[in-house]
Amino acid sequence: MTRLPATGPGEGASPPDPDALVAAAAAQVAASASLAELDDAQSALLGKRSALVAARQAIARLDPAARPQAGQLLNDARGRIEALLADRRQELHGAARASRLDADRLDLTEIISPPQRGRLHLVQRTRDELEDVFVGMGFVVAEGPEAETDWYNFEALHMPPAHPARGMWDTLYLELGEPETVLLRTHTSPVQIRLMQSQAPPIFAVMPGKCYRRDTPDARHIPTFHQIEGLVVDRGISFADLAGTIDTFTGAYFGPDIHARLRPAYFPFTEPSAEYEITCTICKGAGCRTCSQTGWIELGGCGMVDPAVFSAVGLDPEEWTGFAFGFGIDRCAQMRHEIPDMRVLLENDVRVLRQI
Ligand code: FA5
Repeated sequence: MTRLPATGPGEGASPPDPDALVAAAAAQVAASASLAELDDAQSALLGKRSALVAARQAIARLDPAARPQAGQLLNDARGRIEALLADRRQELHGAARASRLDADRLDLTEIISPPQRGRLHLVQRTRDELEDVFVGMGFVVAEGPEAETDWYNFEALHMPPAHPARGMWDTLYLELGEPETVLLRTHTSPVQIRLMQSQAPPIFAVMPGKCYRRDTPDARHIPTFHQIEGLVVDRGISFADLAGTIDTFTGAYFGPDIHARLRPAYFPFTEPSAEYEITCTICKGAGCRTCSQTGWIELGGCGMVDPAVFSAVGLDPEEWTGFAFGFGIDRCAQMRHEIPDMRVLLENDVRVLRQI
């Protein structure tokens, strides 16, 4: 402990011990729980009426020779007390700031709802489901390009240039090579050709994908849509196999309550050909805007592979037989989910997408 020098004879009471002053100050500073309390402590410890000032005054009563050292010790004690006050002030400032920040803190987790899990678009889900149904029936899945040549999209399918049947498809040609030689495929039927070129029969395959037509959008048509093509090539395949396959598909995908029918139709690449229709699920057959008041919705075309198509890919039509079909995937989704207007599938309105 540092002691002030002893007072000389007759010089009066000795000033308090500086170490004791600092110890008392340290206790008072530590006990100050707020900045306001610390201000009070500071006045009490360093102010006019403080023990420190009283001790300084007491120095005058010391022996003159002892005064400088006593003064030095008191200065030193004052410095230590000031340091104690400054440290505590910093501590209390920090605590006050932390509690202010805590009070002001925006708890953003309170207002952010948990991320919503997205899901696949209805058309993609329908494509997956249709693939599953056909895979379950023994078919394999194949794909072909969306940009096709005129030969695959038309010629190999028994539609030479200027064939009137080309008018059945409003074609979008690409500016590539000779004019009107490359196009956005109007149907998935060219994949039949690619498949027959790339593998020998027997073939049992479905070929889903995007198709493009210059069709004016309406309740049943959109310019970019999807089809799933089917192709069976083997010996001894008959129209009964085609009808049975379509019947099995209808039951598996739409359930037992949906009525389907095949109506005679014309496609250059099948003979005989048919249109596959089901009862309109919007009006249950009564007639509505979606089915143009007919009560029926066409889902696709089908028929027995025309011998000319077999010849185009080098298969002997005397040996091989087969059937093909092409269903609209968006149309299947529309009927299965009872969507009166197909255009909603392209509009991306989340209120609609959440429901379907
Ligand atoms: C064809 O595209 C033939 N390739 C189908 C075929 C394949 C016949 C194999 C014989 C053998 P069609 O143009 O009718 O046929 O179209 C078939 C189906 O595609 C339609 O029934 C419909 O479901 C769907 N589709 C056609 N155009 C559109 C469109 N613009 N928007 C939505 N779906 C469409």
